[in-house]
Order: sequence, then structure tokens, then C-alpha cells
Amino acid sequence: MTRGKFISLEGLDGAGKSTHLAWLTALLKQRGIDHVVSREPGGTPLGEKLRNLLLNEEMNLETEALLMFATRREHLAKVIEPALVAGQWVVCDRFTDATYGYQVGGRGLDLDKFNTLEQWVQGRADGVLQPDLTLLFDVPLEVSRARMANGRDLDRFEREQDAFFVRVRNAYHDRAAASGGRIKVIDATRTLDVIQDELAQIFAKLEHA
Ligand code: TYD
Repeated sequence: MTRGKFISLEGLDGAGKSTHLAWLTALLKQRGIDHVVSREPGGTPLGEKLRNLLLNEEMNLETEALLMFATRREHLAKVIEPALVAGQWVVCDRFTDATYGYQVGGRGLDLDKFNTLEQWVQGRADGVLQPDLTLLFDVPLEVSRARMANGRDLDRFEREQDAFFVRVRNAYHDRAAASGGRIKVIDATRTLDVIQDELAQIFAKLEHA
């Protein structure tokens, strides 16, 4: 059985991830690729309960980081790894790069602590498990803000100040630069057609890799 491929989507809140996720899953369906769509924090019954706490309860920075990784541990064990082993592709709305962006960049979590947790949760005999491809939908802060302000209630992260999101975006860029090509930065200010053309090309490479 060929192992499935693991794709994650990242970006600031309001970068258009949901629209692109829907388009990507339609493409997988059209290509006849069996797949699972999931999200973090969340993705399991326990993880969804933790998500509710993470998005709504005030907590210490390190508690937040630990809960993000606890959710991820459960998600990997119960959903992601079994699917990949069974040959299914996994499309995940956010994964560890979000912890790097939001907790390390945004909140200032100590990098050694992040690395330790990543190694603990994703460490395998052959290295640290990462997505095969990460699409980072990149928009400037003003665009993110404008798209967030669509009248709905904002969660604990979305209520953060501009400086927080500038740090998150910078951290995402640093992580992308150090990712050896795994993280593709997609300029998400362009029209949908143009973005989808680029995604289709990236997808075709992954499918035939
Ligand atoms: P998001 O995935 O953007 O959901 P929605 O589209 O429903 O708003 O929201 C999840 C929030 O959690 C987002 O603000 C980023 C944050 N987050 C972290 O801070 N660290 C993480 O490791 C993950 C996975 C998410």
C-alpha cells in the first residue's frame, strides 16, 4: 500500500484558507483520490473539545502551547497516521507551522520548548513527521483584518492586536524559508482564478512525486 500524502493549509485568519480548502478537496475528489479532511486544533472528538477551550478560555502561554500539541498528538494517533498508512491523503486546516506562527511568533513561546514538543509529538524513527506539502496563504495584515471583520464573533486569537499578527506573519515567513521547499508561500491577494492555477500546478507535482 502506498502511503498517502499529507497536505496542510496555513495563513493568517482571513487569508482565505476555507475557500482554498474547499477547492482543493473538490480537486482531490475529481482526481479520484481517497482523502480525509481535518483541522487543528481539533480533528478528533477530544480535540474538538480542546479547540473550544483553546479558542475561548484565557490561559497561560505555555498551557496554550501544550494543549495545541496535546490535540495534535491525539489527532496524529487517531486520524492522520492511520489514514496515511491506509493510503488515504490527509488535508489539514492548520498543523504545527501554526504553532510556530502563533505561539512562537505571536506569543513569544521559547523556541527550545517548541522544538522539544514538536520532537515529542511528531518524532519518528526516521525524523520529525511533517506534511508533504504546506500551502501558506499569505496576505498583508490589512487584508486579513478586513476579511475577519465580517460581522461574526471573533475568537481569542482573532481579537489580538495588529502587532501580534505582524509577528505571526513574520514567523510563518521564517519557517517557510527554512522548510526546504515544503512550505509554499501563496500570494493570496490575487484573484481566485490566478491562485487556483498556481495551486493546480503545485498539486500536479505532488500527485506525481
Ligand atoms: P482557524 O483555523 O483559523 O479557524 P476558523 O477558520 O474557524 O477561524 O482558527 C484556529 C485558531 O487557532 C487560529 O486563530 C490560529 C490558532 N492556532 C494556534 O494559535 N496555534 C496552532 O497550533 C493552531 C493549529 C491554531
